[in-house]
Amino acid sequence: MLLCVGGGIAAYKACEVARLLVKAGAEVRVALTPAAQRFVTALTFQALTGKPASTDLFDAHQELAAGHIALADWAELAIVAPATADLMARLRWGGAEDVVTATLLAVEPARWLLAPAMNERMWASPATAENVRVLGERGAKMVGPAIGEMAERSHSGPGRMSEAAEIVDAAAGALAPRDLAGVPVLVTAGPTREALDPVRFLSNPSSGRMGFALAEAARDRGADVTLIAGPTEVAPPAGVRTVRVVSAQELHEAVNRSLDGARAVVMAAAVSDQRPAQAARQKVKKSDGEETLRLVRTPDILAGLGARYAADPKRPVLVGFAAETERVEEHAREKLLRKNLDLIVANDVSAGGAGFAAATNRVVVLDRDGGRAEVSGTKLTVAHAIWDRVRERLR
Ligand code: CTP
Repeated sequence: MLLCVGGGIAAYKACEVARLLVKAGAEVRVALTPAAQRFVTALTFQALTGKPASTDLFDAHQELAAGHIALADWAELAIVAPATADLMARLRWGGAEDVVTATLLAVEPARWLLAPAMNERMWASPATAENVRVLGERGAKMVGPAIGEMAERSHSGPGRMSEAAEIVDAAAGALAPRDLAGVPVLVTAGPTREALDPVRFLSNPSSGRMGFALAEAARDRGADVTLIAGPTEVAPPAGVRTVRVVSAQELHEAVNRSLDGARAVVMAAAVSDQRPAQAARQKVKKSDGEETLRLVRTPDILAGLGARYAADPKRPVLVGFAAETERVEEHAREKLLRKNLDLIVANDVSAGGAGFAAATNRVVVLDRDGGRAEVSGTKLTVAHAIWDRVRERLR
């Protein structure tokens, strides 16, 4: 991955982009414009990436070690962060007077990911607007700018560079294969809440992150994604049709409404298996002594789908999750068969496993034909591995 740093105050955020890319396992090379080097140094990026950064087109040593054309050939994707107004103007007319523009001129624009950053009036100027439009027409991808406070505290509006994590996610998206183009898929995410009374509920600590990563990965691969999500703190990914629900019953109804035409259904939601037999209309007052809570089963949505499509040759690929604390694979395989699924993602949520709220995951994907694959990494990596398996079964 090539990271091209332009000369704007947001250059300090490019350091974080480099760090996150390295953390995600990418090999990162950095090129800085002369103006960028007035904000951040090549040494910063060298320390973060373990590779020397390119700073000077006319430095004999640098050109010998990693010439700008070799760098251009090597780069699967060139992230330009910050993409300043000036840098985008020069990219539009094809200048090549520094190592960044000279390198990018040898990379086709479809492999550029621009993260614009500038004052909101510079962003709104007709010149910038036209440059952005033309670069987009040539195939350059864009992340941001975000709306918010500028470096000049009194200014606010569109022009802020997107946060580093968003840029890294956009890079992952830009590199994703478009192998699910137009395929309608349904993903559920997050916990459900089963009301005891207007102010209390039964639930679980699902963050929704795994389901959101699945929706995001599918979106990046071109799928037509419907996401049904329980209550979560984390925001669902942009560009995905999202339906919010609260209880298992609402989730069930939403799934039934969205099912039509879906080629895959991935149930990452942590659905409550039980709900209180009765939800009190008014807040329940405490009483002395022991109390008993009567619970009844919620519908098993996934098992319902497995049964409904049992004899249907055009059934959607059904994917379940099995969060287990012991004999993880054994329980998961039993669930796969009992619920008549195509795939199950077994997830160890015991204290020693990588469970619920973790940002990364380690899972085993089992298929109904006895196949088994271990996957670990960020939830987005795991999500892509799951879609790889789903896609195999779509063929
Ligand atoms: N699931 C569902 N509807 C429910 C409960 C679970 O669709 N009422 C789905 C989950 O989304 C998940 C899979 O079924 O994909 C497995 O969920 P889990 O609760 O772990 O399995 P159970 O069959 O309920 O088994 P147990 O609680 O006995 O472990």
